[in-house]
Amino acid sequence: MSQNLQKPARYTITAALPYTNGPIHIGHLAGVYVPADIYARYLRLNGNDVAFVCGSDEHGVAISMKAKKEGVTPQNIIDKYHGIIKQSFEDFGITFNNYSRTSAEVHHKTASDFFVKLYEQGDFIEETTEQLYDQEAQQFLADRFVIGTCPKCGFEEAYGDQCENCGSTLNATDLINPKSTISGAVPSLKETKHWFLPLDRYEDFLKKWILEGHKNDWKPNVYGQCKSWIDDGLKPRAVTRDLDWGIPVPVEGGEGKVLYVWFDAPIGYISSTKEWAAREGKDWEPYWKAKDTKMVHFIGKDNIVFHCIIFPSMLKAHGDFILPENVPANEFLNLEGNKLSTSKNWAVWLHEYLEDFPNMQDVLRYTLTATAPETKDNDFTWKDFQARNNNELVAIYGNFINRVVVLTNKYYNGIVPTPGAFSEVDRETLAELKKYPEIIANSIERYRFREAGQEVMNLSRLGNKYLADEEPWKVIKQDEERVKTIMFVALQIASALAVLSEPFLPFTSAKLKTILGFETLDNTLSWETVAHKEDLIPAGHQIRAAELLFSKIEDETIQAQLDKLEATKKANETMNKEVSPQKDTITFDDFSKLDMRVGTIIEAEKMPKAKKLLVLKVNTGLDVRTIVSGIAESFSPEDIIGKKVTVLVNLAPRALRGVDSEGMILMTENADGKLVFVNPDEDGVESGETIN
Ligand code: MF3
Ligand code: ZN
Repeated sequence: MSQNLQKPARYTITAALPYTNGPIHIGHLAGVYVPADIYARYLRLNGNDVAFVCGSDEHGVAISMKAKKEGVTPQNIIDKYHGIIKQSFEDFGITFNNYSRTSAEVHHKTASDFFVKLYEQGDFIEETTEQLYDQEAQQFLADRFVIGTCPKCGFEEAYGDQCENCGSTLNATDLINPKSTISGAVPSLKETKHWFLPLDRYEDFLKKWILEGHKNDWKPNVYGQCKSWIDDGLKPRAVTRDLDWGIPVPVEGGEGKVLYVWFDAPIGYISSTKEWAAREGKDWEPYWKAKDTKMVHFIGKDNIVFHCIIFPSMLKAHGDFILPENVPANEFLNLEGNKLSTSKNWAVWLHEYLEDFPNMQDVLRYTLTATAPETKDNDFTWKDFQARNNNELVAIYGNFINRVVVLTNKYYNGIVPTPGAFSEVDRETLAELKKYPEIIANSIERYRFREAGQEVMNLSRLGNKYLADEEPWKVIKQDEERVKTIMFVALQIASALAVLSEPFLPFTSAKLKTILGFETLDNTLSWETVAHKEDLIPAGHQIRAAELLFSKIEDETIQAQLDKLEATKKANETMNKEVSPQKDTITFDDFSKLDMRVGTIIEAEKMPKAKKLLVLKVNTGLDVRTIVSGIAESFSPEDIIGKKVTVLVNLAPRALRGVDSEGMILMTENADGKLVFVNPDEDGVESGETIN
């Protein structure tokens, strides 16, 4: 029953609205936007009516927190990141029909109306309950304003609405040992009124729709999560919050309260569709209401409950809307073995990638598709990125196209030759070629974008192998006629590749279409024509000169990226190191009692039988004295002779292992935990100078 045998009349494709609390990185691209874009481009190439919508998610605590941290307004934050994110999507060729934002007027109105309709229909429970309250910040705590231990999995940094470790949705009051992320305070309880969506009322509907209806066509990870929530029993969930950033609750008693961000954000898909339709002079309603529309939500795994349980219950309650046919959520992408993290700056940011790899969007799109976390978490590594580029895009796809175009220009001045009779191999190769539209389509229709991307590479392999076997560059010496046929066949493969790689490598495909002179072809080549048309690119057609599609990435370039990550790791370690608290205040008089001088180490030797101690002779400008210093594990004697150091000279002498130590050398630690001198080692600084 879930299998719609009839071809949908139109498609509504949504991609999760990113929070505008930071730029976007490869994890976003791999998990959500590249697969969604491949799907949308593929559907359009097949002549479908597609609304591919997205926008910025600008409400919620994620934004307020970022604003607080930076000491600016939430509006400043959303304006800044909405701009950056929108630009990244454009730069990477993500073909949204519309990219909106939830601060837009159309969205505020759409979300408010939605809430009012449910309110008027009696779909909410209104209840005064005790909620977590931060006495210091004088604010209720919900969502990301509170962290604590997840009652389901024990993860200690679960948020007030969700545990990112096990994916459970939580109520803030479920957290064990809750703590305010604003002040660090332990919250108290305070009464407040909220509206709840009684999810328990939708259990039967969800069981039927998902557990019975989508057992076989939803991905196991998605289906499994849904099943476990439903089996656990669903509870009413608050859809309003005591916050000052968000969409005001539009009903009586809602003053000072806003809609929960996860109530308003998915409605953003509807608002974005409306905005697009208005601009294009279309009707938005069929995209959300017609039964012959196929709706698909592209999201990451932390969004599954919201898109499969909560939003569908809202849509069902509302009554006017269709439900998604599928929610092909992906797992997470890691980077070099560690979890991607915006706050730890452990990421490859899209805008930074483009600075380092200008015009190489397709390489990243390709790599992220090849390592997409479709069935389990996956790891992005720079070495793999390099290998995919050098061994696949350059060596197979690029090499094949380059040979075809160069030889066609060399032998025929760029004019597609008229073939003679096809050999057995030619016929087989052409027949094989004609299978690819269906092979790739099959993978895409089942949301297996990894597999689909590899099939595109297999088509390049077909071309590469054909040329390698037929060796036109050798045959040309004995049989010029035969070469015409070989080149004709190879040009058909190149043309198919230009069409079929478009969803995956849109920039390359556009370049290749230009090289092959597609704009002067009689027919525009669609997915279908590749499967059925005899000559995709006919004899007599003029192509252009060769142009490099991909170029090799050198080891140094990859090393530079690895070094950058290493530096990030170091910086994080330094930041996370416990800083010892400040000591008690001293008076200026106390301070002036310290007599610190510049000294020069003139002799150094190990203290026998003491691992840590060096016995130094130091010229203090006043005298040469003995100082025993616990630095033997960080320095060897020969390294430090001649070194200028800071010495506290009026410290009372003390015997260490029988040697009188008359002073102290000031030391500190570097980021690696190694001892280093507090160093007055500047030109012209003489022993005996006081330090004050
Ligand atoms: N902003 C959310 C996130 O990044 C996703 C919102 S998706 C929507 O996790 F459905 F609410 F729009
Ligand atoms: Zn958990």
